[in-house]
Amino acid sequence: MSVLREIPVAPSALRPSEYTAALIHALHLDMESIRNAHALEMGSGSGVVLAALAHLGAASLCGIDVEHDAVAAGTLLLQDLGHGPRSQIHRGDMWQPVAGRRFDLIAANLPHFAMEDHEIPGRHTTWSAGGPDGRRLLDPFLSGLRDHLAEGGRAVLTHNGFVGLDASRDVLVSHGLTLRVVKSVMVSIDQDKLALMTPSVLREEEGKSIHRYGPYAFAEMHVVEIAAEDRGSHAR
Ligand SMILES: C[S@@+](CC[C@H](N)C(=O)[O-])C[C@H]1O[C@@H](n2cnc3c(N)ncnc32)[C@H](O)[C@@H]1O
Repeated sequence: MSVLREIPVAPSALRPSEYTAALIHALHLDMESIRNAHALEMGSGSGVVLAALAHLGAASLCGIDVEHDAVAAGTLLLQDLGHGPRSQIHRGDMWQPVAGRRFDLIAANLPHFAMEDHEIPGRHTTWSAGGPDGRRLLDPFLSGLRDHLAEGGRAVLTHNGFVGLDASRDVLVSHGLTLRVVKSVMVSIDQDKLALMTPSVLREEEGKSIHRYGPYAFAEMHVVEIAAEDRGSHAR
């Protein structure tokens, strides 16, 4: 008989993706800075990234998501894993639920696929659409980051190559923040999703950050770390 306690999985619309896996791997690469950190995840979905942060020793966990079922699923997962007392998940849009609050670590796997809102079978419309250039949520996230990072804090987020690392650096520099690539992977893009991609982005990026082999397509995806230019002197 299994000794594992059954913990219900989130609705399949919230199932973790290759992006989730890469983000969790990147968090494992700097475990030391997570221990005792007050952590936030923007767009917490199933809650599994918050669960990973708890496992890595975060002192408190805060999640934000626009979807009711994400708030319910994440809350349940953290409770079932015994992290309920140090966690809270808010329903809301971007930074609004945490106005005035700062965190040592902010994780995000935002919707930033370059496409208009479309029904994707098996997912919420809000899961991956980032508007025509993919930056509809990314830019306000980056612009608000400085006001929510504690001294010496950092953000770790997934970043599709085709939305432009340099465009993100341009947003960040005016806030005194720098971006460094922690790891890069290729993620597969299925045909249905590729067909919805903004045509100009696909044309521009094919052969650069998007690679197609017959019916199969892959995109370069980075996990990046963002911190204050002077973080070195504050980092734990
Ligand atoms: C790509 S999913 C990532 C989910 C989860 N973090 C993971 O990696 O499995 C993006 C998440 O952002 C949420 N989201 C979309 N728009 C949002 C907004 N304006 N504010 C907060 N969350 C949002 C979606 O509901 C979804 O759960």
